[in-house]
Amino acid sequence: MAILIIGKNGFVASRLASRLEGMDTLLFTSSRSRENALPLDLRHPDDFDFRRIEQNDRVLMLAAVSSPDICQNEPDYARAINVDGTSRFVDRCLERGAHVIFFSSDTVYGGGGPFGERSPCHPVGPYAGMKHEVENRFLGNAAFKTLRLSYVVSRDDKFTAYLRRCAASGEEAEIFHPLRRRAVHIDDLADAVAALCQYWNALPSAILNVAGPELLSRVEMAEVFRHLDPRLRFRTVEPGPEFFAARPQTIDMGSCYLSTLLGREPHGLREALAKELTLQDSLQ
Ligand SMILES: NC(=O)c1ccc[n+]([C@@H]2O[C@H](COP(=O)([O-])OP(=O)(O)OC[C@H]3O[C@@H](n4cnc5c(N)ncnc54)[C@H](OP(=O)(O)O)[C@@H]3O)[C@@H](O)[C@H]2O)c1
Repeated sequence: MAILIIGKNGFVASRLASRLEGMDTLLFTSSRSRENALPLDLRHPDDFDFRRIEQNDRVLMLAAVSSPDICQNEPDYARAINVDGTSRFVDRCLERGAHVIFFSSDTVYGGGGPFGERSPCHPVGPYAGMKHEVENRFLGNAAFKTLRLSYVVSRDDKFTAYLRRCAASGEEAEIFHPLRRRAVHIDDLADAVAALCQYWNALPSAILNVAGPELLSRVEMAEVFRHLDPRLRFRTVEPGPEFFAARPQTIDMGSCYLSTLLGREPHGLREALAKELTLQDSLQ
């Protein structure tokens, strides 16, 4: 069995690759790099060499236009990749007998909550609509599972990286408010994916919500960060209506299955950030 990571240069893909290393043969695709990656541009999925995919391989379908703002402002471009190319690629992987894990988003539920895996979906914005369209197309196929991710926290996610830069430079950070999520530590996501690759049937559902234990605003997240790195200064900013046209203010998404799959509770934000912000960072 091989594990194919689709979209090698992505933020989540890079960290998943280190977690999965040594577990199975790892293969990568990329639309940009040629080094150690099979070429795949989802605008032209049929150009891919599908003979590289074999029965029971695990395909981690991470590649996407992942910015809700680009999906909002360039819908045709995003749709060609996120819906048309992705659906065609997944179709052909399933035809080859592979198992596909599709990386979707908590935004498919829409705003509010609490949401569990069986809650009805009311996608907000084109990004969420595109993810939901792909899910609907394949859910029901036993070789397809969808992971609905909350905001994924690591030292390199956009928000934490911004806070780290501001803390190091002395610049005052501007924090959008209100924006509340049950952000999840990237290690929890990586462990869940590793478990699923090994034990496909350990998850008794086609849908897994991947979320942390606490519903926190970005301001509360910044406070947790500041506790660990007191150099951070920030102020609250209210974003314009166009910001919330592409994403809900609050998504309170939990999971009935994540703790069981992990064999432990997911990390709280403080634990996650403490792990991510190394001593070396705080001395910079
Ligand atoms: N990060 C989060 O908090 C979060 C939350 C909810 C859902 N998700 C979903 O999880 C997945 C991974 O997220 P991420 O944050 O790692 O995204 P990302 O950093 O934006 O990575 C996406 C990757 O997709 C690949 N890609 C882009 N255009 C492509 C094309 N035309 N053809 C083939 N590949 C293309 C690129 O990799 P190459 O340059 O190697 O081709 C790119 O690096 C995405 O599907 C995203 O929607 C993420």
